[in-house]
This record gives sequence, structure tokens and C-alpha cells, in this order.
Amino acid sequence: MAIRDILTVPDPVLKQVSRDVEAVTDETRALIEDMLDSMYAANGIGLAAIQIGVPQRVIVMDLEWGRDESKPDHRAPRTFINPRITPLTDELSPYEEGCLSVPEVYDEVKRPARVKLEYLDQDGNPVVEEADGLFATCIQHEMDHLNGVLFIDHLSRLKRERAVARVRKVRRAA
Ligand code: NI
Repeated sequence: MAIRDILTVPDPVLKQVSRDVEAVTDETRALIEDMLDSMYAANGIGLAAIQIGVPQRVIVMDLEWGRDESKPDHRAPRTFINPRITPLTDELSPYEEGCLSVPEVYDEVKRPARVKLEYLDQDGNPVVEEADGLFATCIQHEMDHLNGVLFIDHLSRLKRERAVARVRKVRRAA
């Protein structure tokens, strides 16, 4: 288990298209552990493997952590391997998104409000479920990472360039 550095824009690795995991092994599970450690350490709710430089179609997420003040240590980590999503509605849901690879930048992105989700869990079992609300937004944001797309790619060119300039400035100051 290890906390790994999270890549930030404009790192070209973030534009890579990740490949399917051919077999879910102990190595995959070790990657998942590192991803969760890195996500929690950075106070994130989701992370794709490419964000720590690994071009495999693996996503981790925890939408419950820190949500309930009476249970600050409650964690509900989830893993999605080789996910496929299909929109189930034309309705678009707006959400003020952020990303650990674009620190301190938030902007509204509209995505399908409800999706069908197919993936393998960390034991390699196939799962099919439906997602809506924050879950739908988050899984689509993370899916984009697997295809080399960032949430700022959904914004205007001006906003995207401003976001990258801002991250460069923050990184220089760090
Ligand atoms: Ni992200």
C-alpha cells in the first residue's frame, strides 16, 4: 500500500487512452489499494488509474466518506474495472465538478442524469447496475479519464486554458 503522486494538467500522460484489464489479479488489487490510499490522502471522491500514471481501465470511488459528520471515519470504497456506460435518459444533470488532476478548479459540466453501468468488481465478477445523482456524474467523469478526457475538456477553450494556467501557477508556488 502506498500513496502515489497524482498527475496534474498539462501532463500528457493524462491524455492517454487506458487499456482494458485482461485478468483481475493480485497485482490489480495492489493497484486498487494504492489508488484508494492516494485518493483518500488527496481528499478526493474518485480516481482513475491513469491519474497515478497507470493506463489501465480501473476506477475507485467513495461517495460516502466524510459525508456524515457523526461518522467521520466511515468509508465505503468501490472499484470499477473495465467499465462500460450507456446513458438511460436524454436528461442532462449539471454539477459543479472538480478533479484531483486539475486542483482548485471547479466548473459546471452537464452529463446524462442516469446511466447503465457494466463493470468487473475487484474479484473479477461482472456487475450491472444503474447510476443516478452524484454517482452518475462521478462515474462519467472517471470514465472520461480512461479515454484521456478531463472535465475541463467539456468547457470553453478560454476556460480550459485559464484552468491549466492556474494549475501551473499553483504547482510553481508549491
Ligand atoms: Ni478527475
